[in-house]
Amino acid sequence: MESIKVFAPATVANVTCGFDILGFAIDEPGDEIILRKTDSKEVIISKITGDDGKLPHDADKNTCGVVIRKFLKDLQIDQGIDIELHKMMPLGSGLGSSAASSVAAIFAINELLGQPKTIDELLPYAMEGERAASGAAHADNVAPSLLGGFVLIRSYDPLDTIKLPVPNNLYATIIHPQIEVKTKDAREILRKEIQFRDSVKQSGNVAGLIAGLLLPDMQLLSRSLHDHIVEPIRSILIPGYDEVKSAALGKGALGAGISGSGPSIFALSDSKTIAENCGEEMSKAFASLEIESEVYVSQVNTNGPKIIN
Ligand code: HSE
Repeated sequence: MESIKVFAPATVANVTCGFDILGFAIDEPGDEIILRKTDSKEVIISKITGDDGKLPHDADKNTCGVVIRKFLKDLQIDQGIDIELHKMMPLGSGLGSSAASSVAAIFAINELLGQPKTIDELLPYAMEGERAASGAAHADNVAPSLLGGFVLIRSYDPLDTIKLPVPNNLYATIIHPQIEVKTKDAREILRKEIQFRDSVKQSGNVAGLIAGLLLPDMQLLSRSLHDHIVEPIRSILIPGYDEVKSAALGKGALGAGISGSGPSIFALSDSKTIAENCGEEMSKAFASLEIESEVYVSQVNTNGPKIIN
């Protein structure tokens, strides 16, 4: 194989109570990457579209370049690679934009070179892409984008990820307002310590959310979709947050919260119709504040990245 084109999906991280430990993949949007073998021994980025010129073309600074270079170095392969990246989702959106690029890159290079590593072995590479993008190698976007589905990161050291079952009738609504929030900034404003009682409440909800998926029990899922630690701080960065969340709950969503580090807001529902109605109402709430937005309705994407012909 001389070249490959890969799509990797966007993701919703945290899922309210699961800061840095829960995330799920959605069908769209996502990023596309094209890798071509070259005769030189260099990894270069020849083209990036859809980023308004914001992403670095220097392969040492770009998430795609970082993960591919590390992969080739570890495997002691001096293959030249030309990278073409097509960003098909906004940066700083809370949809796991850098994660989709990192995952597309690591999945594509592994396929291009004949799968020298297993999918699970690719995860730490994608996490290095996150470190390059936000300063923190969190896995709650890259793990679901790479493995597909709804993923729990039980532990970071050692890395231990678990793919959770997803009820067939679970639908996500994601609304992206035209505002940019950098994950790095949204992490810096968080408190370094939390109250013991908040930790107890949050643990109860994480456990309830996972039990809700496993049983499955939608009402338990609904009772568990609360965040007592991060939402009160980060929601300040999102104009109209309370109104948009209330709009989703008013239309029958099981719960709603900040998608990743925001500004996107997600809701979960137990039918497609409710999920679509939530999207309309959430969009109206942003519009009443003169904020334009895009809505995505999707089931949990259990496939992860895919090769495009
Ligand atoms: N868990 C990460 C955070 C996700 O909330 O900072 C970023 O998309």
